[in-house]
Amino acid sequence: METVLVTGGAGYIGSHTVLDLIKKGFDVIIADDFSNSSKKVISILEKLADRKIKYYELDIRNKEGLREIFKENKIDAVINFAGYKAVGESVEKPLMYYDNNLIGMIVLLEVMEEFSVKKLVFSSSATVYGIPKAIPLVEDNDMGATNPYGRTKLMIEHILVDLAASDNSWEIIALRYFNPLGAHESGEIGEDPNGIPNNLAPYITQVAVGKLEKLSVFGDDYDTPDGTCIRDFIHINDLAAGHSASIKYLVSGKGKGFEAINLGSGKGYSVLEIVANFEKAVGKKIPYVIAGRRAGDIPVSYARIDKAKKLLNWEPTYTIEQMCANSWNWQKKNPNGYKD
Ligand code: NAD
Ligand code: UFG
Repeated sequence: METVLVTGGAGYIGSHTVLDLIKKGFDVIIADDFSNSSKKVISILEKLADRKIKYYELDIRNKEGLREIFKENKIDAVINFAGYKAVGESVEKPLMYYDNNLIGMIVLLEVMEEFSVKKLVFSSSATVYGIPKAIPLVEDNDMGATNPYGRTKLMIEHILVDLAASDNSWEIIALRYFNPLGAHESGEIGEDPNGIPNNLAPYITQVAVGKLEKLSVFGDDYDTPDGTCIRDFIHINDLAAGHSASIKYLVSGKGKGFEAINLGSGKGYSVLEIVANFEKAVGKKIPYVIAGRRAGDIPVSYARIDKAKKLLNWEPTYTIEQMCANSWNWQKKNPNGYKD
């Protein structure tokens, strides 16, 4: 049984991935500093997986601490979720973002190299396409970034490409996520943003649960059928399964060098279509107002997912209805997230 070190494994995507990896027969070790997650997640994961899960409370920039993990365990591959992800905050605190995301990744790579563990899956993002010239987005499209957060993802991808070119024993997959949505069916783990959510889905569910008054729809004058932006939403369990498939690909020795792979549903839904789907899931109207455009928003973003299908033998399986229903189930059961 291969062992996967999951850094940032207590977070939204990490926690769902840990469950999926265990389901697929991998052994998992979590390293998380809980800077944007709760320790409660570990015991919930243990309950859902019906087994003990080894974890370390560690900032991955702490090289000595990371070395201890590699000394104490035989690790076959690593998934790095550890990083900050709020676009607006990255504009206000760029150094904090460059420090955590870049230094964290570099220290982790250095320690992996020291211990000859050279299979890595990295959390990248559709944000590395910058302002797209054509849709759907394909992996070999031009890259760019429009904010410090996006630049950390872009820079890390460049670092990974350089590293793989310097030493052909590295096997690296950068997964470019589109918009994750939904939660585990149990409603016991889900997305738990700090403060007022920046992202669409948690904002809507917090309106639905009565914590926020109404949604602001950022712009209805885009060149799209209903005037609102279009995004590619992917169920969190499908996204998690994409990581297990990537690990399976790497440990089977198929991976060579660096690959960037889109993980999305391949379909686009507008902001108002998402509101309508949540209204169905919740069973009541979601109050909203049309507000001005949000700076930096791209009108339309969705993925071509042929590469993931071909290389990883992976396919998204959940519908938008299931994504909204699961997302609402989590919020309804945990109006205050893990603070409940
Ligand atoms: P999250 O904040 O829920 O999870 C990140 C986890 O990493 C948290 O548990 C946090 O405590 C931990 N962490 C942060 N810095 C750390 C450090 N230095 N050392 C150890 N642990 C640290 O975020 P998420 O939504 O699960 O995202 C996971 C990754 O995927 C991030 O890198 C994010 O940038 C990327 N991503 C997310 C989205 C999205 O929409 N959620 C989209 C594209 C990419
Ligand atoms: N939106 C609203 N009102 C809100 C929040 C969002 O109308 O209160 C709209 C946005 O304008 C956008 C759409 O909903 O048109 C989606 O916005 P999100 O903030 O949920 O997601 P983004 O597509 O802007 O960005 C997300 C992550 C990024 C990541 C990107 C691509 O936040 O980190 O997906 O993966 F890079």
